[in-house]
Parts: sequence; structure tokens; C-alpha cells
Amino acid sequence: MNITVLGCGALGQIWLAALHDRQHQVQGWLRVPHAHCRVAVRTLSGQPLHYTLPANDPQRLAHCDLLLVTLKAWQVASATVHLLPHLPPDCPVLLLHNGLGTREELGEIRQPLLQGFTTHAARRSGQQVEHVAAGMTHIGPANARCGDHSALAAALQQALPDVAWHNDITHSAWQKLAVNCAINPLTVEYDCTNGALANYPERVNALCDEVAEVMAREGLPVDDLRATVWAVIAATAENTSSMLQDIRARRRTEIDYITGYLLRAARRMGIATPENSRLYERIKRKEQYHEQQRSGTDLSGTWHRGN
Ligand code: NAP
Ligand code: PAF
Repeated sequence: MNITVLGCGALGQIWLAALHDRQHQVQGWLRVPHAHCRVAVRTLSGQPLHYTLPANDPQRLAHCDLLLVTLKAWQVASATVHLLPHLPPDCPVLLLHNGLGTREELGEIRQPLLQGFTTHAARRSGQQVEHVAAGMTHIGPANARCGDHSALAAALQQALPDVAWHNDITHSAWQKLAVNCAINPLTVEYDCTNGALANYPERVNALCDEVAEVMAREGLPVDDLRATVWAVIAATAENTSSMLQDIRARRRTEIDYITGYLLRAARRMGIATPENSRLYERIKRKEQYHEQQRSGTDLSGTWHRGN
């Protein structure tokens, strides 16, 4: 297959390496255009892979069989929209990121749109990406043009297992949203690993229950939501959540697509979500403080409560 990977960071590079190893014709698409992108991955088995792959080639884009988008959620809409007119109309676009809401930001597109999420873990360390944990990638349709793409899931499965196709991914996507709502902002609040959230069971359960109320109103099953979240906390006990990593690095977080998405849905339904709302405000204040520091508009010497 001809595949373009938009976003050549931690997740993008493990996909580029895995797809290239399976003899797919892959190119990366970089924010700052370049003829090549360097892929440097340490695999799960510790094997170092170094590839120089083509990048930002419009000809390859015009003959693409898949656009795989591995950007942070807030980068997706603006970056993807520029590529769509250059893609064949039948080329599936797969959005693979934490959180929800990019589908709505993209609006109607002529290509089949797929959304997905993954539990693989990869992190950038210097010039190299380390694939630190195997996981599962779930994909499913995100617009009406997207019929059955289970064959695509099978092709991706060959490269970076496991991949599951869902005819309807709504419930799984909301469950993943619940996991991220309960874990990510709370690890920022307590500046702790995922596992340390076991010290705050009431906080975790309150966040879960608010998500469950919104999911129930969406007509989705919620019986096992607390158990699902606690299972992820146990399975990822040593992890530093992606949101805490972003906050520590003073980067923008994905809060608008995680808790923010939940709050927008809750508001439409008239459901109160005080625990999630409070955490959302807290993360936004931290983001704004970091943004002010980056842009140099902060008044030096100002004391910021809670930052
Ligand atoms: P990342 O390392 O920051 O990768 C994003 C990449 O996209 C960066 O290389 C960035 O380049 C590039 N980029 C930004 N804007 C762009 C644009 N307009 N055009 C082209 N490239 C652009 O992030 P990640 O860890 O791979 O995460 C991607 C998504 O996967 C997130 O939603 C994350 O939550 C999710 N996820 C990640 C993991 C993981 O283990 N890494 C696991 C599960 C889910 P610059 O750095 O130069 O801006
Ligand atoms: O965002 C993350 O860090 C992950 O999605 C999760 C599941 C919370 C594990 O760290």
C-alpha cells in the first residue's frame, strides 16, 4: 500500500518503521516540508531501526491508499484539512489520537474517515523513539462514506499488532475517553504516576460517575465503567500519563479533546459535571500560564496561585 503518515513523532515513527518493514510504500509528512524524514526507533525487543524515508511528496499523496494521522488532537484539523484536496477521493483517512472532537472539527470530507485509538506506548528520547509497550489499536468508521474497512485493519495488524476493527466504535471510544478523563488530569493535580491514583479512590470514582451519566444519556452501556478505569490504572501503574508529561514539558495538553469534549456533551444534555469541570479549569490555567511564559507576555515576578 501507499501510505502517508502525517505527524512523525513518537506514534508516527513506530508506525512508519513497522509499515516500511512490511514493504509498504510509506512517506512521512512533516510540519516543516523536507524531502526526507528520519525514523529512529528502538523496537520492543530492543532492536535499533534507522530509516531515511521520503517526505512531503505531493505525487505520493496523490496516489495514497491511506492517510494515517498521528498528531496530537489539537493539531489534527488544521494540518489534515490542507492535505485532503490532494488525496484521492476514495483514500481512507485514519485519525489516531487521544480524545474526541476532531471529526467534528474536520466537518464533512469527501474521503472515508476513520477514527481510532491505541494503547501502544512510545516515547521520544533525544533523537530516538522508544517503543516501550505493546498495545492494541482500535479503529472504526467516523463518517457515512466509511464502509467496512476491516481489510485495512487486517493490513495494519500485519505491521503493528494488535489491530481491531469495530463496525461501531462509539462505545469503545467513549470508554477510552472515560479512562483519559479519570486518569490524565488527576495525575496532573497530584503530580503522580497513574498507579498513585489508588490513593484517591473517591476522586477517580466521582470522575467516572460523571462520564457514566453522560454516556448513559448517549444510550451507551456504562455498567463496568469504574472497573474499566481501575483496570487501566493497575495495568499502567508505573506510567506518567501523557497529560502530565505535556504539563511537565510545558506543552499544550489534549484536555480540550478529553475533559473538554465531555463538558461540551454534558452541557448540551444539561448534565452537571462539577468534578470534571474543576479539573478542566485547573489544567487550562496551567496551559495558559505556560503559554504566557512561552510568548513572553507574562509580567515577570508575578505570583500565580496553583501553578
Ligand atoms: P508527538 O510525539 O508530539 O508527535 C506529533 C508529531 O506531529 C510531532 O513530530 C510534531 O512535530 C508533528 N506535527 C505537529 N504539527 C504538525 C503539522 N501541522 N504537520 C505535520 N506534523 C506536525 O505525539 P505522539 O506521542 O506521537 O502522540 C500522537 C497522538 O497519539 C496523541 O493524541 C497521543 O495522545 C496519542 N497517543 C500517543 C501514544 C504514545 O505512546 N506516544 C500512545 C497512545 C496515544 P513538532 O514536534 O515538530 O511539532
Ligand atoms: O494518555 C495516557 O497517558 C494514556 O492514554 C493512559 C491510558 C492514561 C495511560 O497512561
